[in-house]
Amino acid sequence: MAVIDLRSDTVTKPSEAMRRAIASAEVGDDVYGEDPTVNALQARVAERLGKAAGLFVPSGSMGHQAPLHACSRPGDTVLAGAGAHVLRYEGGAAAALSGLQVQTLGSDGFFDAADVHAAVTPRDAHYASVRIVAVENTHNSGGGRIFPLERIRGVADAAREHDLHLHLDGARLWNASVASGTPMAEWAAPFDSVTVCLSKGLGAPVGSVVCGSEAVIERVHRARKRLGGGMRQAGVLAAAGLYALEHHVERLAVDHANARRLADGLVAMGLAVAPAPETNILMFEHDDAAGLSRALHERDLWINPMGPGRLRAVTHLDVDADAIDDAVDRIAATLDRRA
Ligand SMILES: Cc1ncc(COP(=O)(O)O)c(C=O)c1O
Repeated sequence: MAVIDLRSDTVTKPSEAMRRAIASAEVGDDVYGEDPTVNALQARVAERLGKAAGLFVPSGSMGHQAPLHACSRPGDTVLAGAGAHVLRYEGGAAAALSGLQVQTLGSDGFFDAADVHAAVTPRDAHYASVRIVAVENTHNSGGGRIFPLERIRGVADAAREHDLHLHLDGARLWNASVASGTPMAEWAAPFDSVTVCLSKGLGAPVGSVVCGSEAVIERVHRARKRLGGGMRQAGVLAAAGLYALEHHVERLAVDHANARRLADGLVAMGLAVAPAPETNILMFEHDDAAGLSRALHERDLWINPMGPGRLRAVTHLDVDADAIDDAVDRIAATLDRRA
């Protein structure tokens, strides 16, 4: 039985065509700014996001930690939605590397201007200074939901009013853009810095790009150096990103359709799917999430538990509709339920 891996959209392997692009990449020393493929990728992503400059970084985590580091001082506070990746899944990096405390707002990953106003502290020596607001779109632990643009614009107005840096964790902004039909640049416009990943739904093996104004990216560049993220002949990695931009963005609609297909199968066998998938992430409930995950693993279906009563399945480039139907059958057989 072939393994069906729905743990994450990061598990994809580079296609033959992507590997050819990697093999033929023109390279140079990027720490000297001399890698033409890295430079082309940075320019291409910045253009897609409507920003003046871009910077290639090895991971999404560095893609957030570098701008946070660059735009704050130790002791400052970062505001982020509940369950934010930057707080929960980056090894405590904001505290360890930049001396930041993260304060969460809202309850489902989303929040509003009023939450920002309420969290901003008075100018008084007792308080930590709130310096940055970080938005995650789509929201991973919120089930791949899209942060509505109107709410983002409200948050941006509040951030500007208090002179806060507004950062976007856009690891899966491509999914938000394809699902909504709203261009990347429109989603990115309210933000001072935006990080997008190439190694999630887009199927590249490595890499993210931070975009912003020339001045912001110059500071982020220094932070990247400090964090050890300067890479040399990184064009071999950037080539995969360029290939992905060209071939793997529009097809995200297929992943979204497959997530809905999986949701339909689960609901038909009586499982609770919540929230309904908006993009490529699907959350469903089961009393013994860890036990079910182990039992599915024995049938070569890999789905991670996300807390005691919830599992997360993520669709991606390497699973097609037939694999989704097969996954539904394996879940039904494991639970002894007929769809
Ligand atoms: C929303 C979000 N932000 C950031 C990251 C971090 O990316 P990386 O694993 O490349 O560090 C992830 C990883 O899955 C993510 O889901």
